[in-house]
Amino acid sequence: MNKIPWWKKSVVYQIYPKSFYDANGDGIGDLQGIIKKLDYLVELGVDVLWLNPIYRSPQVDNGYDISNYHEIEPELGNMADFNELLKKAHEKNLKIILDLVVNHTSDQHPWFKQAKKSKSNSYHDYYIWKAPVDQHAPNNWGSSFGDSAWTYEKDIAEYYLHLFAKEQPDLNWENKKVRNEIYNLMRFWLDKGIDGFRMDVISLISKDPAYLDGPIIQNKKYGSYYAGAANGPRVHEYLREMNHEVLTQYDIMTVGETPHTTVEEATKYTAAHNHELNMVFHFDHMHLDYGKNGKFSTKRFSLSALKQVFTNWQEGMAQHDGWNSLYWSNHDQARPVTRFGTDKHEYREAAAKMLGTILHMQQGTPFIFEGEELGMTNTRFKSISDYNDIETKLIYKDFTENKHLSADYAMETIYLKSRDNARTPVPWSAEDNAGFSAGKPWILPNPNYEQINVEKVLSDRNSVFYYYKRLIELRHKLPIITTGKYCLLNPQDEDNYSFLRETDDEILFVTGNFTEKKLVVDLPDSLTELEGKLIISNFSALGTVLKQLELPAYGTAVYLFTKS
Ligand code: GLC
Ligand code: CA
Repeated sequence: MNKIPWWKKSVVYQIYPKSFYDANGDGIGDLQGIIKKLDYLVELGVDVLWLNPIYRSPQVDNGYDISNYHEIEPELGNMADFNELLKKAHEKNLKIILDLVVNHTSDQHPWFKQAKKSKSNSYHDYYIWKAPVDQHAPNNWGSSFGDSAWTYEKDIAEYYLHLFAKEQPDLNWENKKVRNEIYNLMRFWLDKGIDGFRMDVISLISKDPAYLDGPIIQNKKYGSYYAGAANGPRVHEYLREMNHEVLTQYDIMTVGETPHTTVEEATKYTAAHNHELNMVFHFDHMHLDYGKNGKFSTKRFSLSALKQVFTNWQEGMAQHDGWNSLYWSNHDQARPVTRFGTDKHEYREAAAKMLGTILHMQQGTPFIFEGEELGMTNTRFKSISDYNDIETKLIYKDFTENKHLSADYAMETIYLKSRDNARTPVPWSAEDNAGFSAGKPWILPNPNYEQINVEKVLSDRNSVFYYYKRLIELRHKLPIITTGKYCLLNPQDEDNYSFLRETDDEILFVTGNFTEKKLVVDLPDSLTELEGKLIISNFSALGTVLKQLELPAYGTAVYLFTKS
């Protein structure tokens, strides 16, 4: 067998720099703050850090609107800070990957400022421009944040496309000059020694030149751009070119964020022989609680559907030589304990550990979003003005003004789904401002920081933190977690998630209770002749297991069987 690449054996920790730790007291997390907390990450045992965008940006979308790819956002520090961070991280055996945001730039990027000057400007064709059709936008597409995806520049009488905010114009990948600029900026960071990229909405870079109207879904005002922009006609050609010209020259990892991507499509992006990306982030489990208005809804997921999603991806990637990324949340998602487990005081920690187990025992590369290792919960801010996120603000407006939904309902869906749930500062202690900053934080801390904080988890050997540490150690120690074949048990069961991982000589049995009830779980017949040894659990489980296992509320356990 070929040597297993390092990124298949790694655990990634995602840092949202603005919210991680503020070293200089201006209320905004920064690069020096990350440097100060590196030993915390070493203690947790992760291998790779993924930093959300740290480049110069007007911060309309918190750094996903970049105005200079070669400079550090001054709020976060400067290039000397970055060099220091990279060096110190490497000294501690932590790799660093950066966010690559190249579907669009900021409207303040010099390219766009030139591009909108005139149709003959040499940068004009760096972006996607269309003449009005019957004095309207060229098609009915809405942006991801709810408004039209087209903005009119009256000086040159053309619309430009933006699949996100109007301050985030989409780059024209059809133009080879644009692609070369992107490859150059990638080399700039790779030559500094970074260890890879997370590629923002990379499935959207190739648009179908027909620019047809999209269907109206989820009660939206505008049409959906998915059919015309997701997994477009040239996306695989572009990524193979990028791989050939840049990626293969370095020993790095790549993970593409790929909205609207099925298992089948994802195998094209990640199958080793296609030479595109190592893995992608799909959204199938994130869609399980979408309601009639889309993401912002009070609907709860069903466990059988969740199992089906994970199982499709586990099986699909394994069959086609692809590779999975594994995640419960990130900077765009709610906190997993609230969303897939429970916030209830008596079960919160058990639920956090159970969710961690179900994810970390699957095949793929796990991503831990900052605060997940503390079992952080969603935050209920009192007023819409306490929220910072552009998507949240636009949804509130849309729900209350266009859809005439009550403010209470809008706020409830925001509590459940707002991206700001993920963006509250990491609570380092029970001190003022959650020990995150000596100044006023740019966003309010979760008010439960006195109960849930780093100082507390580090002083308790039974904490979620030490449980996550153990999950990571197990992945490093037991090859079956990386290589074992996944097999789902009891697909229809709405309370219990159990699955096996199997190699030629071992079987791992993984089980989790998604309810407050006690459950009795039967082991599959194939295991009843063998005796399993406990390798991790969140309750005082028996050291060996035979035919049956009793799980308490949100209980979880993993047993390793050796084939005779
Ligand atoms: C991705 C990012 C999200 C951002 C969007 C536009 O989905 O994760 O935070 O708003 O792309 O760049
Ligand atoms: Ca700061």
